[in-house]
Amino acid sequence: MCAYVLVFTFLAAATFVSDCSAKLAPDFIHPCNNTEPACLIKATQDAVLPFTKGLPDIGVPSLDPFVIDELPIQLPGVKVTFLDGKATGLRKCQVLNVEAYLEKNVFQLQVRCNITIKGKYTAVGRLLLFPINGEGDAKIKIVNSVIKMDIKTKYYKDNEGRDHFGIKSYRYTFDYGDRIFYNITNLFKGNPELSNTVLVFLNENWRTVTEEFGKPVVDYAMNVVVSTATKFFNAVPYDELLYVPIPKY
Ligand SMILES: *[C@@H]1O[C@H](CO)[C@@H](O)[C@H](O)[C@H]1NC(C)=O
Ligand SMILES: *[C@@H]1O[C@H](CO)[C@@H](O)[C@H](O)[C@H]1NC(C)=O
Ligand SMILES: *[C@@H]1O[C@H](CO)[C@@H](O)[C@H](O)[C@H]1NC(C)=O
Repeated sequence: MCAYVLVFTFLAAATFVSDCSAKLAPDFIHPCNNTEPACLIKATQDAVLPFTKGLPDIGVPSLDPFVIDELPIQLPGVKVTFLDGKATGLRKCQVLNVEAYLEKNVFQLQVRCNITIKGKYTAVGRLLLFPINGEGDAKIKIVNSVIKMDIKTKYYKDNEGRDHFGIKSYRYTFDYGDRIFYNITNLFKGNPELSNTVLVFLNENWRTVTEEFGKPVVDYAMNVVVSTATKFFNAVPYDELLYVPIPKY
């Protein structure tokens, strides 16, 4: 690519040459000079909105919305499949805390988010004693959920010998937050009264309901977020993200 740029300098402005060593980090990255949480929180918050829009130039897909093609969830007695889904809201997540322990390969992130998931669903089985064979629209609105991620990082060199952050593994806790609203149509085919009664029940018991089936949905979302972040870390070297010397590795 640099050779190509150099050829172009014959024809165009010499400024093209600078592309050879151009930084890869987008402008919204404001690297911290230390690992004080105050700076890391601000830098992370500054990055949330532009990052979640996606960075097609460096192969990072959008996180707001992100697509849930098909997500099967096996509940006791009911098989639910979520289809053609879209999750929105990550762009407005509030960064509550960020801690980085570079030597220990630990990175901790805590955010509060409102997330809306919309799509189609099918449900087959039994729910609350009733045989269920539903199929329709589902909308789930999650208000003020708090997500804490505990990430084990690693460091590695790319083909050009530049250091990168990597994600070795992660764990998370998810607090479902203030409230979850369910709007699911046609739970019981041909029986709108029963469908509505059960929907009211699901909303009144949202916390228990969510404990039953929330985990696969959140696991799915976390996996999308982490694989997107991994693409970003693969594209942008360490020294463009943090102005703190990288520990020996
Ligand atoms: C890091 O230090 C440089 C030089 O002192 C300064 O310009 C920059 O604003 C600092 N970055 C942050 C995020 O504080
Ligand atoms: C989520 O929505 C609620 C209600 O609309 C609002 O009060 C709250 O500030 C929002 N939280 C975030 C993290 O945006
Ligand atoms: C639930 O969704 C249906 C159609 O998808 C809509 O007509 C209805 O107004 C929604 N109800 C609530 C409480 O949002």
